[in-house]
Amino acid sequence: MKIDLILGLQWGDEGKGKIVDFLTNDYNIIARFQGGPNAGHTLEFDGIKHVLHTIPSGIFHENKINLIGNGVVIDPVIFKEEIEKLKELNVDLSNKLLISRKAHLILPTHRLIDKASELSKGKKKIGSTLKGIGPTYMDKTGRNGLRIGDLELDGWEDKLNTLTNKHLNLINNFNVDIDFDINKLVEEFTNSINFIKSLRFIDSEHYLNESINNGKKILGEGAQGSLLDIDFGTYPYVTSSNTTAAGACTGLGIAPNKINNVFGIFKAYTTRVGSGPFPTELKDETGERMAKIGNEFGATTGRPRRCGWLDLVILKHSIIVNGVTELIMMKGDVLSGIDRIKVCTKYKYKGETIDYLPYSIEDENIEPIYEEISGWDEDITKIKSFTDLPQNFKNYINFLEDSLNVKIKIVSVGPNRTQTIFV
Ligand code: GDP
Ligand code: IMO
Ligand code: MG
Repeated sequence: MKIDLILGLQWGDEGKGKIVDFLTNDYNIIARFQGGPNAGHTLEFDGIKHVLHTIPSGIFHENKINLIGNGVVIDPVIFKEEIEKLKELNVDLSNKLLISRKAHLILPTHRLIDKASELSKGKKKIGSTLKGIGPTYMDKTGRNGLRIGDLELDGWEDKLNTLTNKHLNLINNFNVDIDFDINKLVEEFTNSINFIKSLRFIDSEHYLNESINNGKKILGEGAQGSLLDIDFGTYPYVTSSNTTAAGACTGLGIAPNKINNVFGIFKAYTTRVGSGPFPTELKDETGERMAKIGNEFGATTGRPRRCGWLDLVILKHSIIVNGVTELIMMKGDVLSGIDRIKVCTKYKYKGETIDYLPYSIEDENIEPIYEEISGWDEDITKIKSFTDLPQNFKNYINFLEDSLNVKIKIVSVGPNRTQTIFV
């Protein structure tokens, strides 16, 4: 047995949560491997609409293990709230939720550093979700971090104090105006730690490898998207972890030869929340229409998402970097009623036509080259089988498969679990 992965191929919010929940029946363990509460994964079923930030998207299923891997960064305050909300929905977490001892903790001061750093950048800000993600990974690679496993040892409070004082000095050096009450923040943090200490902490790399040996099926749930990867995304407008397939190896302790299927998930168009280049962005009525019909507001911050045409140059880049074996296309319903759908197949870059992602895709360097495809008028949100979808929808799928050389396995035609069709 091996592990399959679900990875976002664009700038996040592709619909990973919905599809992980949909596919959970086929797996024993769902494992998050990177990122933190910057993620917002939306699930809709049986009249429930729920957004998960730290907890994997298999949590609503019975008898499935949901594991938070070593590569994830956890904010105990947000995590506690998340657990409490699930308890209100009568989700019993006691035997379902496991946490790696090696996962790092987001401190209140990490969040403050994020804020100070963004303020100091002015117009060049990343557009961070301000959840403290970057500063926490900085402390991880700087070998200063506080980990879940530390909570089982004596002296974690001293570590917390030392780190907090160091952070306060750092915040001072940014010379920006931010208001906070450190005692209150630390108290809230400590209370939340006491709460999460009742959860199950494990050596997850051993658990997962043993599970593989025992024939269990594991699904790795990515957060963010490939274009937000710290190495292969649109740096510096990225997040601070490897969101790509390699991140699943380091974030779970699973060897590359244990990875089986890599499901690459994308929207039928493109969105981005936060700053940074976006070659196919539409600042016109079509973009506004996508935002409105697609309800494109950040699941974590509520910020409006920027919208634009599908960009195959970006998808090809993500397919290669991740070794995508099958594709999943979301939100096809949002394109219904658009007469001519454009798809970017190449870029004009410094006077040349290219079909790969160059070092810099800032507006001044890149002009997207589009092909046009006839759209469909029908409302497809109630269609249950692929054969019943409009011919022009099928033509869109065929065009994408031919261009990308990877099969599309699933199409999604609405936010609900039931609005999911195998191709
Ligand atoms: P994630 O971060 O990748 O899990 O995605 P988000 O939950 O942040 O954003 C995806 C949004 O699109 C959510 O509001 C979903 O409910 C919604 N969604 C998912 N699939 C579809 C679909 O096929 N059609 C429509 N209209 N909405 C969808
Ligand atoms: P999911 O898992 C979309 C973006 C932020 C910002 C940049 C850095 O729901 O797809 P950070 O908080 O990491 O410092 O922000 O990355 N970003 C996301 N955009 N979906 C996400 O997660 C994101 N997580 C971070 O908007 O541009
Ligand atoms: Mg999201």
